[in-house]
Amino acid sequence: MSELRYSVLVLHGPNLNLLGRREPEVYGSVTLEDINRGLEQEGQSLQSQITAIQSNHEGALVDAIHAACDQHHGILINPGAYTHTSIAIRDAIAGVAIPAVEVHLSNIYKREAFRHHSYIAPVAIGQISGFGAESYRLGLRALVHHLSQHPPRSPKN
Ligand code: DQA
Repeated sequence: MSELRYSVLVLHGPNLNLLGRREPEVYGSVTLEDINRGLEQEGQSLQSQITAIQSNHEGALVDAIHAACDQHHGILINPGAYTHTSIAIRDAIAGVAIPAVEVHLSNIYKREAFRHHSYIAPVAIGQISGFGAESYRLGLRALVHHLSQHPPRSPKN
């Protein structure tokens, strides 16, 4: 196998562990395991290592972002409902200065008004919203493309 170029941390926020049975009319029938497996395959084709973590706890997500400094080149994050509430997650991403892409399964701008604002978007490279599980794949491709254009420091430095 060719050498891995990038290490990407995939962070799934609260309630995403319920995918597959959670509001299928909004989020579809795909499970989190399906999404992670798809990302691992996509990662292989991009010569990138994927590490996926899901947590329902804001502080655990903040800790994972801090720990990414020593381990990962980029972050792909679906912050779930914390998108709309968490200054702590926003500050963590800004603090570690690791390129992050924000993804959402649903189109948050077509939904309730409280979902239209993202605290994360201003500190992300970009956001992909509304394509179901495909949002993650597109987000991973966009992140790896960004890393190839802006070569990162080694995460061990
Ligand atoms: C979500 C959108 C959020 O508004 C919601 O709270 C979620 C999932 C999405 O992927 O569409 O939990 O991030």
